[in-house]
Amino acid sequence: MGDVYRAFSTPLYRRKNQLNKAELNPALGSLDMYRLKTDDGYTTKSPWVLENELKFLKPLVQECLDDMIYNDWKFKKDLYKIEIQNSWVMKHTKGDQSGMHWHSNSLFSGILYLQCDEKSGTLMFVNQDNWCGNVLDFEFEEDNPLNQDTVGLIPGEGEILIFPSRTPHMVSPSMSEHSRYCLAFNTWIRGPLGKGHEHNNSQLDL
Ligand SMILES: [Fe+2]
Repeated sequence: MGDVYRAFSTPLYRRKNQLNKAELNPALGSLDMYRLKTDDGYTTKSPWVLENELKFLKPLVQECLDDMIYNDWKFKKDLYKIEIQNSWVMKHTKGDQSGMHWHSNSLFSGILYLQCDEKSGTLMFVNQDNWCGNVLDFEFEEDNPLNQDTVGLIPGEGEILIFPSRTPHMVSPSMSEHSRYCLAFNTWIRGPLGKGHEHNNSQLDL
């Protein structure tokens, strides 16, 4: 059998974290939230909860972002910084879900799971650019990373996931009796573009 070299892939950063429930639970209880027009979940009125209500979580989120861009992606530390642009909390009660969407005006997005259990819904990522351009629908003997168009994850409490903002994702309906709370955020990377290339006259500072 030949080998397959996986030339490109969609990176999903995952890390388990310990959350301080004594600090978190009262903060979750005091969030100002409203029911979405789509009637499938609640969200915070504020799009900057990491600057205010949940600012005690910001160092943890920033640590994960820095770990990803410097240790995994190898961005040059002296040139680039990743900044959180906005942040909000989503709450799902039994039957709530999130339809497929992606995050505009952001490079990496993330989700930190604040309160959930194994019945709170599956987070599904959709391959938007598969090998045949998503225009042919073959049948396979089994699912594997080469042929599947979706990846489903059931994250645990305290887990963070960071992914390219353009990656479509959705959450299946919650079957849990307990509310699911997660923190979502968008980011931008500050630094120079195009300065490392000798013949590239197109330079830009983000
Ligand atoms: Fe999302």
